[in-house]
Amino acid sequence: MIHANDFVFEAKSTLSNSVQQGKFTWSAPSNIALVKYWGKRAHQIPANPSLSFTLSHCKTLTTLVFSKKEAKGLSFDLLFEGQPKEEFKPKVQKFFERILPYCSYIEAYHFTIDTTNTFPHSSGIASSASGMAALAMNVMALERALHPEMANDYFTKKASFLARLGSGSACRSIAGEVVIWGVHEEIEGSSDLYGIEAPFAIHQQFKNYQDVILLVDKGEKQVSSTVGHDLMHDHPFSSERFQQAHQNLSKLKKTLQTGDVKEFIALVESEALTLHAMMMTSLPYFILMKPNTLKIIERIWAFRAKTQLPVCFTLDAGANVHVLFPENEKEKVLNFIREDLSKFCQNEHFIEDKIGSGALFIE
Ligand code: DP6
Repeated sequence: MIHANDFVFEAKSTLSNSVQQGKFTWSAPSNIALVKYWGKRAHQIPANPSLSFTLSHCKTLTTLVFSKKEAKGLSFDLLFEGQPKEEFKPKVQKFFERILPYCSYIEAYHFTIDTTNTFPHSSGIASSASGMAALAMNVMALERALHPEMANDYFTKKASFLARLGSGSACRSIAGEVVIWGVHEEIEGSSDLYGIEAPFAIHQQFKNYQDVILLVDKGEKQVSSTVGHDLMHDHPFSSERFQQAHQNLSKLKKTLQTGDVKEFIALVESEALTLHAMMMTSLPYFILMKPNTLKIIERIWAFRAKTQLPVCFTLDAGANVHVLFPENEKEKVLNFIREDLSKFCQNEHFIEDKIGSGALFIE
């Protein structure tokens, strides 16, 4: 079993001094959880295992420019779409502080980080997963320059480990189409420290699975995920919920292998509603769904009953609805979305996405 200590960087003096300056660019996608991560312990350890589909089009592109400096200490400039962005700095500062025990070399450089998203900034789509994943890949690219003999498996695992310290769900945006994060007894190699690609064959049914994101509310959320996670500590249903997540993951594992879409739909929708039920039963309680979220859900249910098409929804920690369906039903479902669901979106805005395979080295 891999421990956090295995990710501590050990300098090899000759090489470590030789990397003076450089630049990398990586992209990392967003991901959508089917079994939800909601509740965590210290050091970003999840209270239960989660499983997600990696997305393809919604992603962050991050360039890391680094140059060696004299004085030791964390030092960086942060740009968003080429312009300085002070508001984003505290999150990155916190990320660097958390990864410092594992990446001591970051104190020896000054960084300029320039980041852009392919999705609109105010879309309500969280950029923390893709953003932290893209940054973690860049940091690991620098580490690999210092340790060129690094194995690919270590690179990927440590990238996911670092991304997790930035934002839990970010560790599922590194590698693989279907990613599991958190120890689960039926999933070999699963870990609380990083995400792994599902170690079983995924049924053809889910290849190129589509995810259309309906942008119901593009505003800032009233309650952040971090606060929501915290509220699971004294939550009256938390232990049942954490247990249920284990059971749902067992069931979903089977479903993903057999291609049983009926069971898939039941599990995925139940997970989404359970996530929001946890929010509604926290103290203080809160609701992130909007009236249009419910209207969309009702219409998806009616459409499914009428057409028998395997369309379902999931939700993240917000009002937006992710509509999931197989690639071969794309035309019919997109028509339904255009004609019947888009009017419930802000400015009729939705994003067509699908399953993707993770972070990419750009240059
Ligand atoms: C509802 O990963 O955003 O999307 O670890 O505090 O950064 P932090 O939280 P975050 O939580 C995501 C919660 C979720 C479910 C999920 O993605 O599994």
